[in-house]
Amino acid sequence: MNAMLAPFCCDREERERDALSPREVLAVEDVRKTFEEGSQKVEVLRGVSLAVDQGEVVALEGPSGSGKTTLLSIMGCILTPSAGRIRIAGREVSGDEAALRDVRKRSIGFVFQQYNLFPALTAQENVEYALNVKGARGRGAAAEAARVLDLVGLGDRRRFLPRDLSGGQKQRVAIARALAGSPEVLLADEPTANLDTAVGTQILELFQKLAKDENKGLVIVTHDPKVRNVADRVVGIRDGRLSDPTEH
Ligand SMILES: Nc1ncnc2c1ncn2[C@@H]1O[C@H](COP(=O)(O)OP(=O)(O)OP(=O)(O)O)[C@@H](O)[C@H]1O
Ligand SMILES: [Mg+2]
Repeated sequence: MNAMLAPFCCDREERERDALSPREVLAVEDVRKTFEEGSQKVEVLRGVSLAVDQGEVVALEGPSGSGKTTLLSIMGCILTPSAGRIRIAGREVSGDEAALRDVRKRSIGFVFQQYNLFPALTAQENVEYALNVKGARGRGAAAEAARVLDLVGLGDRRRFLPRDLSGGQKQRVAIARALAGSPEVLLADEPTANLDTAVGTQILELFQKLAKDENKGLVIVTHDPKVRNVADRVVGIRDGRLSDPTEH
């Protein structure tokens, strides 16, 4: 609401509720995506709208091929929708290449199933490298990498190469890399699919803690039923549309 108008149009209780309401960090509105394969058009997303607040964990579930990765890529500004609007951290980015690039660097952290770490770089260097790409260098980048590795519980593994880390620890490095630079939004695509049950649970609990403590908006794509223990909302995707969200 426009603050200038607030005193004239709302009672005090309503204004206070507005001020306390969680801040939206990510919204897609009526997003559509059609892929063209030769002469065939495949309509993968047919009008998807979803908003995520600070500190909120949203799980996205759906059958293989239902468009989960496609939607996550659009939310992360690495894929352009055929139609619809995207707002990240209060900024409308749809169709604006410069804004998309900027938001990708500042406001989005991605975590993938396969960790995607550089094998020849230590945990610390993997995170620093991501920061370098975002424009942070030198001591500032080193300190930020150390901070986020501490946050994921790997302060004592900073000098380890990926080959000397367990799967769960590698995923923690990937989560630290996503957190580096304090983006408002974390997007995770099947982050526990390569991990055994106990480690997968730890990773989901870490995601939940980070979303709450660090005030991130988090979307996790997963087939993992354990996600229901950590998600505030579970949203289904089927036939290109979202099913009604289920409160948890
Ligand atoms: N670049 C592309 N060109 C053509 N079709 C694509 C492209 N990317 C995705 N698709 C199609 O879009 C549909 C949705 O793919 P997507 O990867 O989003 O599914 P998903 O829900 O993530 O599946 P999974 O659970 O298997 O990862 C699939 O039919 C896929 O073949
Ligand atoms: Mg996928």
